[in-house]
Amino acid sequence: MNRYRNTPLINALKKYITGQRTIMHMPGHKQGKGFDPDFLSNAVRFDLTELNGLDNFHNPEGAILESMEALRKAYGAEKSYFLVNGSSSGIHAGILACFNRGDKILVNRNCHISVINALILFGVEPVFVMPGYIDEYNLAVPPGIDEWKTALEQNPDAKGALVTTPDYYGICQPLSDLSNFLHEKGKLLLVDEAHGAHFAFSDKLPETALEQGADLCVQSFHKTLPAFTQAAVLHIGSKRIDPGKVSRAVSMITTTSPSYTIMASMDYARDFAVSSGTEVYGQLIDILDDAKKKLSKMQKLRVIPDSIEGLKRDPTRLVIDTSSSDISGYELYDRIFSEYRITAEMCDTCHVVFIHTMADTAGDISKLTHALLETDSSIGKSNSRASFRIPFSTGRYSIPELKYYLASTEEIPLEKAEGFTCADAVTPYPPGIPVLCPGEAITAEHIRYLDKVKKYGADVHGLRKDRNGTGMIRVINTKT
Ligand SMILES: Cc1ncc(COP(=O)(O)O)c(C=O)c1O
Repeated sequence: MNRYRNTPLINALKKYITGQRTIMHMPGHKQGKGFDPDFLSNAVRFDLTELNGLDNFHNPEGAILESMEALRKAYGAEKSYFLVNGSSSGIHAGILACFNRGDKILVNRNCHISVINALILFGVEPVFVMPGYIDEYNLAVPPGIDEWKTALEQNPDAKGALVTTPDYYGICQPLSDLSNFLHEKGKLLLVDEAHGAHFAFSDKLPETALEQGADLCVQSFHKTLPAFTQAAVLHIGSKRIDPGKVSRAVSMITTTSPSYTIMASMDYARDFAVSSGTEVYGQLIDILDDAKKKLSKMQKLRVIPDSIEGLKRDPTRLVIDTSSSDISGYELYDRIFSEYRITAEMCDTCHVVFIHTMADTAGDISKLTHALLETDSSIGKSNSRASFRIPFSTGRYSIPELKYYLASTEEIPLEKAEGFTCADAVTPYPPGIPVLCPGEAITAEHIRYLDKVKKYGADVHGLRKDRNGTGMIRVINTKT
């Protein structure tokens, strides 16, 4: 008997999980495969609240404190915190704890939308530092140390920097020189390490942000470790950060009903990674190395190497470049799913990203290798390489005041938006990097770029279709 009557979401989820799939996306537990059977069978019953013996997230003194202490030790931090609303909430808490309204912060422009939201919420002024771009791979790369130095020389009043590393494609910003430089100048280094929670558990993975001198970092456990969606952590890495302020900031941005199931999954993931991470990652990386060797025979598709232009890349993130073939990243993503039932993490105009975690088996990776080799032999070569370099604004930029941001209701067709000030973040998602930020002037180049990625099939957040199918963009109407 069907016990559900009007449950569209449950229906959609049931449909999703019934089909046989090989999962190469987050959350890192891969539909429970990465959990111990005992944890899995109790997970729903762990959904409890602040009862006797279960401690209190907002004033931890018992089991939660002990688990966060084990977390601190595992990462070599000064102090570590659980987060139950993803790295987004840790970015908010970090900025709230370390910066005052009106302070300046250096930020790589290809940051995640949660950074922009925090800046608007807390009235912190960004100085954007522009990423580089490798045309050969159609990938943005982190700004070099000289770009960060110049940004600080031009803005000596900035209180610190927030740096994203690794990015969605696994590309790492080297941090040691940057942290030394910032600390010599009395500035803070905050790191959005959302995609790097696993780095601490194997020497075969790039160094962690804390190992390279970060004062504070956030990591999404759910992205790469066996933990439930929204599980994330914030680490304090140095005495330059006031733990009292961070504790209050984390508490302010967190529900008074934090999920014990999510927290328990972080307890599980940390414990498992500490005890088995080195071995499991060692095996995973060896299997992936072997797969990459086989995939190097592809003629049209190409594996993005584990090191590009001297920058390290997370070897567990397999990224396939389609730009020398006659199919887009969106088409490859669809084909791999429809023909082989493999679901990738994400795609963009010319890449498909697969996330590999401790829950993957050699069989899963061999299936993917086979699927990619077969697909490569059935597609054509492209005559020209399209470029998808994001046309980041370089002009003056001012983060909108919260009241104008919230009050901006005017929507106009994208094609007529040149010269207006953008109200929303306009973000092809994933990877979630805003092409336009609230407060930026919209240029003809932005309009052309957004049209182009939409034609390729991108889902662009911040653009709405009106009844006639015209793409509408929200602009700031400062008169309201
Ligand atoms: C670079 C980066 N930072 C932060 C986040 C936010 O992480 P979460 O989804 O855990 O809030 C993401 C999410 O995709 C991200 O890609």
